[in-house]
This record gives sequence, C-alpha cells and structure tokens, in this order.
Amino acid sequence: MKTWITIIFCGLLISTHASAGIVEEKGCGSCHRLHPEDTEKSFTAPDLYYAGNKFQPKWLKQFLRNPEVIRPAGFITDSGLSQTENLSKHPSFTKDEANALADNLMDFKISKPSPIASEPLSKGLRSKIKYQFERTFGCISCHQSLNLAGKVRGGISGPSLVNAGNRLQAEWVSDWLNTPEAYMVKGRMPRYKMDPTTLGQFTQFIMTLKKEKIK
Ligand code: HEC
Ligand code: HEC
Repeated sequence: MKTWITIIFCGLLISTHASAGIVEEKGCGSCHRLHPEDTEKSFTAPDLYYAGNKFQPKWLKQFLRNPEVIRPAGFITDSGLSQTENLSKHPSFTKDEANALADNLMDFKISKPSPIASEPLSKGLRSKIKYQFERTFGCISCHQSLNLAGKVRGGISGPSLVNAGNRLQAEWVSDWLNTPEAYMVKGRMPRYKMDPTTLGQFTQFIMTLKKEKIK
C-alpha cells in the first residue's frame, strides 16, 4: 500500500514538473517576464505572460522560426533604458520547436478581454479612420504603418503596426486602447478616451494593417 502511494506521489511530481512547459525550458524567461508577479526584476524584452491574449498563434509560429524586428528603436525597459542589442538576432527555432513554443505561449493568459462589438470597416469608413489615425490622433508619430501607396511610414518610438493585423488579436487591441494599464503599469503611449464606436473602428482599422499590403 505504502509503495503504491509513493509511486503515485512521484508520478504526480513528475507530471507537475513537465507542465512547466517548453517556454520556461528554453530560457525565454531570461529576457521576457513570464509571470505577472515578477515585478522585482527588470526585463530586457516585452512581457509574455499575456501572450495568449495578445498574439495570433500563426504569427507566433512564424516569428519564432524567422524573427522580425518590431521595435526598430529598441525595447524600452521598465527603467527607461533602450535595449537594442538583441533585436536583430532574436533566437530562432526549428518548425517543431516553434510550433511547440507557440502552443505553450497561447496558454499564457490573464483576464479575458471583452469581445469587440464592431463589424469590419467599409471602404469609406476605413478612409475616415485612416485619416483620424494619421492626423486627428497622430498615431503615426510613434508607430510605423502603411500609406496609401503601400509604403512603410511613421515614427519608431512605439512598436511597428505594419503587420498588426496578422500579429495581434482584435480583442486585445481594443482592450489595450481602452485599458493599457491592465497590461503595462508605466506605459509610454498616451491614453486616449475613445467612445465605444470609435474604439471598435480603430481596432478594426488596425486589423487591416497587413504585411502583404506592402508594395
Ligand atoms: C536574449 C534575450 C531574449 C531571449 C532569450 C528571448 N527573447 Fe523574445 N524578444 C527579445 C526582444 C529584445 C524582443 C523585442 C523584439 C522587437 O520588438 O523587435 C523579443 C520579442 C519577442 C516576441 C514578440 C513580443 C512582442 O510583444 O512584440 C515574442 C513572441 C518572443 N520574443 C518570444 C520569445 C520566446 C518564446 C523565447 C524563448 C524561446 C524568447 N522570446 C527568448 C529578447 C529575447
Ligand atoms: C507618443 C507615442 C505614441 C502615440 C502617439 C501612440 N502610441 Fe501606441 N504605443 C506607443 C508605445 C511606446 C507602445 C508600446 C507600449 C509602451 O511602451 O508603453 C504603444 C503600443 C501600441 C499598441 C500595442 C502594440 C504592441 O505590439 O504591443 C497598439 C495597438 C497601439 N499602440 C496603437 C496606437 C493607436 C491606435 C494610436 C493612436 C490612437 C497610438 N498607438 C498612439 C506609443 C504611442
């Protein structure tokens, strides 16, 4: 009887250990914050503890095989230092590893962002929001985006939004614009008070930004 209990107990220990997951095993936590409660340490890369809320799995798989630069001016740490060193040489992985990492990352979730109410934009409405994105709100002073000719333009103090429609989840974008403090205590992006309709339209607009449209 006692031996059985010991065997079962050891089995449980092994399975708990295995569930730590490939993201922890591969040492991603040396640069990225993987647990929200890890606020003591300063990290040199973006937080990943809500990766399952933020990213599209297909993009993650692609990025981990073939990393691209998202923050051309570097990642700004909690203490305000710019970290540019690792941008162009992000660790890359084989197809199988990338898929396993991405699947594991999709389990990293915090509160569930609320579904967005808005429909995809008509052509006319898209032009209107594009104007607001560029002129009224000046989002492109900090973010790269695509102009009408399909050319990359815009500032580099924020993450590039050129491929946001393939990279980010719509619900997360909407939640970020509405309550950035849920994801970042000391965010550097101005807080916009958008009414729910504008918020939905901006989210839909951001989801139309795709790399395939670069000319
Ligand atoms: C040596 C430090 C370092 C290690 C180790 C590292 N990363 Fe990164 N990672 C970065 C930096 C810096 C960026 C920001 C790149 C950019 O914005 O262009 C980044 C970006 C990312 C992004 C995009 C995040 C976002 O918000 O745009 C993902 C996803 C990611 N890393 C996953 C991983 C995974 C999974 C691992 C482990 C297998 C890992 N990283 C290991 C430094 C690292
Ligand atoms: C003053 C510069 C600035 C302006 C203006 C600005 N942002 Fe940002 N934005 C940032 C920074 C910086 C971040 C990254 C988070 C951080 O470091 O605080 C960010 C993050 C984002 C993200 C998340 C991207 C990611 O990959 O994490 C989205 C989406 C976004 N901004 C959309 C917008 C929209 C839409 C507007 C206009 C309504 C806008 N931003 C205006 C600086 C700016």
